[in-house]
Amino acid sequence: MKKRSLFTRENERQERNKEIIEDHRHSDSPLYQEFVQLSEDYSKLFKQFSRIVRMSDKAQEQLKESKESIIRYNEELQQLNATKDKFFSIIAHDLKSPFQAFLNLNTFLVKRIDRYSKEEVVELINELGSTADNLFKLLENLLSWSRIQMGKIQLEPNVFPINQLVNMTFDFLISSAKTKRIKLINNISNEISVYADPNMVSTILRNLISNAIKFTQENGKITINSQIIEGGIQVEVTDTGVGMSEKDREKLFRIEVTHTTPGTADEKGTGLGLILCKEMIEKHNGEIWVESEPGVGTTFFFSLKLQSSEIT
Ligand SMILES: Nc1ncnc2c1ncn2[C@@H]1O[C@H](COP(=O)(O)OP(=O)(O)OP(=O)(O)O)[C@@H](O)[C@H]1O
Ligand SMILES: [Mg+2]
Repeated sequence: MKKRSLFTRENERQERNKEIIEDHRHSDSPLYQEFVQLSEDYSKLFKQFSRIVRMSDKAQEQLKESKESIIRYNEELQQLNATKDKFFSIIAHDLKSPFQAFLNLNTFLVKRIDRYSKEEVVELINELGSTADNLFKLLENLLSWSRIQMGKIQLEPNVFPINQLVNMTFDFLISSAKTKRIKLINNISNEISVYADPNMVSTILRNLISNAIKFTQENGKITINSQIIEGGIQVEVTDTGVGMSEKDREKLFRIEVTHTTPGTADEKGTGLGLILCKEMIEKHNGEIWVESEPGVGTTFFFSLKLQSSEIT
């Protein structure tokens, strides 16, 4: 406001001066000559002043932009720092204790091996083996999770019929389903194709279907359905298993909460499976959610896009 009035006043002054100079152009009074000179000097000075004002405006604009990018970088750094903290806390809590258990069991076995029968030794070694399996799975999950966090896993999407992936996942998990006599049913039509990364969708299906098998008793049933929704498809993995209370449902998909329970045949887990599913679905701009009733069963839902323009 002030600046504009200063420039307006300067314009008015120049106009007035022009008139005065025009009116007295034949005058040879020294005062008039001095006035002309002063007026020219003043105009030059004002021009310089305007240039400085313009430069300072530009500098302020740049300063504002720099401030904004510093704020943005700071937010990104805070986010990264929180992720790093979570990562280390997982290592500290979830990796340390099973490792400790593994080492204790090993020491125990070495010290007392003479006192045990062959069968007992085999049993202890099997226990060591399954603890090692779990540790390895936890490490693998941690690595996948950290690679996603670091942006190292890139989406490689293409169009494919999702029911083929469901069948492949069933083949992969058939032996654990058979052991529990659990029926696997794929109701997805082979006409439905999605635009997604098949490796990631395969990991998502494997996690959800293996959970369904893990938390369902013998003679249960697992059904995969799909529905076309606005702009995409919704896949549903339904089991007739143990279900979950509302309190437990609230602990799902959260990296800061470690929630894992043994399966109906005492299968152990890492508690990272669903977190990985969520990360991978979000990479596709999709969503994952759950409906469950204790004693009745659980359905996990996830959505995927059908169009390439709808995922980033
Ligand atoms: N279908 C389900 N029915 C009942 N509870 C479930 C089901 N799926 C998940 N849960 C609960 O959510 C927890 C977390 O699941 P998640 O897949 O993240 O880890 P996990 O299965 O324990 O370990 P991992 O996936 O590494 O084997 C499970 O331990 C279980 O308590
Ligand atoms: Mg799981």
